[in-house]
Amino acid sequence: MNLEEMLQVADEIVFAQTEHHLDDLQEAVLRGTLQGNIYKKIAKDLDCSESSVRNAGSELWRILSAALGEEVSKTNLRSVMGRLQTSNILNFAHNVSGSFNICSETPQNSTIPNSPTPTEQTPHPQPPPKYQDLSQMPELGDFYGRTQELETLHNWILQQRCRLVALTGVSGIGKTTLAVQLVQQIKDEFEYVIWCSLETSPPFSEFQAELIKFLSQSETPDLSATSPNTSTLIKYLRNHRCLVVLDNVHRLFSSGELAGKYKPETEEYRSLFKQIEQLSHQSCLLLIGWEQPRELPQGKSQTAPICTLQLGGLDRTAVRELLTAYGWAEMDNWATLMDCYQGNPFCLKTVATQILEVAEGLTDCLPEDTILLPEEVKDSLQQQWERLSEIEKNLMFFLAKENQSVNLAKLLETGIISPADLGNVVQYLGRRGLIEKRESFYSLSPVIKQYVKGLAEN
Ligand SMILES: Nc1ncnc2c1ncn2[C@@H]1O[C@H](COP(=O)(O)OP(=O)(O)O)[C@@H](O)[C@H]1O
Ligand SMILES: [Mg+2]
Repeated sequence: MNLEEMLQVADEIVFAQTEHHLDDLQEAVLRGTLQGNIYKKIAKDLDCSESSVRNAGSELWRILSAALGEEVSKTNLRSVMGRLQTSNILNFAHNVSGSFNICSETPQNSTIPNSPTPTEQTPHPQPPPKYQDLSQMPELGDFYGRTQELETLHNWILQQRCRLVALTGVSGIGKTTLAVQLVQQIKDEFEYVIWCSLETSPPFSEFQAELIKFLSQSETPDLSATSPNTSTLIKYLRNHRCLVVLDNVHRLFSSGELAGKYKPETEEYRSLFKQIEQLSHQSCLLLIGWEQPRELPQGKSQTAPICTLQLGGLDRTAVRELLTAYGWAEMDNWATLMDCYQGNPFCLKTVATQILEVAEGLTDCLPEDTILLPEEVKDSLQQQWERLSEIEKNLMFFLAKENQSVNLAKLLETGIISPADLGNVVQYLGRRGLIEKRESFYSLSPVIKQYVKGLAEN
């Protein structure tokens, strides 16, 4: 028996004894114990007290001991469950409950039309039904490049089965578009797929209730259940392979602070993300936004099933294709344009539109190093600027004045940042994608520099 089967057997035995199925805490205690975890670790994973885990455990061992006629404890649980497979206790559980089924292919309590009753044997089990709510997912327009990034995300999500993946980058760089393309490609690998935008920063309880409502569609409603909570949600993520996409997660974080600090009212999201990272389940949460939660590493973690992809601009071929759509690719300065705007498709499209609207000769009649800043680009940069802490703004003002990139020693010399803060400020501006790093030298991209210079002059 594998872990899920053992849990199902335990559930049947408990039901036969008490007429109640395992509650979430009991299930988590059993799961943790079968995985060899101590109470302290189980309590930590569940974010609850060790004493409540201990009490739930004692009660469970009592029920199981009474049902099986032998002493069951956390130290012998695994071997007792292992022995059950060959004993006729399975028949006992089956006879008592009448619904015993250890076939893990068929979802428990499934509402699939015409699905076999649990005791029927089918040579070809039906694949689980698929549920998708992509009503909040934007439609995909033109899509160029991103082969490498899609490959990385496929690998992390499908092969390596990462539980928490973050996709970050500056506004307009193409995060949402890339994620839409990804979801289109991989959605059939999941039983449940949902796309939610956190643009309005919904209260956690509302968000959680909506998500549970969606994820519980194949389950028979449990009328005895108390109000849905995070462990209910984790249970769905464990029982089904789900892909949950949360766009605009930066709305959960505070403005005026280094990136990725939860607002006091969104702390519960942190606790959910932590559980999704740490507890065993088969689902994936994809977070998209300007900022990532602080606790997530850059790239792929070596020790945990979590990773972050910081999205850069489109490559040369993709930019050329994009500009071709505006009749631009043959212009001499398209490559310069790409560098100025860091291959940011939103900026490139907006500038191309402005040039077409004003006059194609617009760039020819302006001084050579002019960087166009259409109002939409300014608005987008302003929104990101307003989120910065004072200390980050000071560093950006300094870098905007410099003609060359500067190293850390030079930054320290300026006295605008204390030695203790230097590492943090540079690290978090880097995470926002607002400063560029080449070897150990830092600078601003031309478009950001132009914008910050403009602020300094006003
Ligand atoms: N790979 C791409 N190919 C073509 N256009 C793109 C691509 N990625 C983004 N865009 C365009 O750039 C703009 C910004 O993209 P979006 O995904 O909304 O950025 P973000 O979510 O990072 O703010 C949109 O108009 C989008 O259509
Ligand atoms: Mg977006």
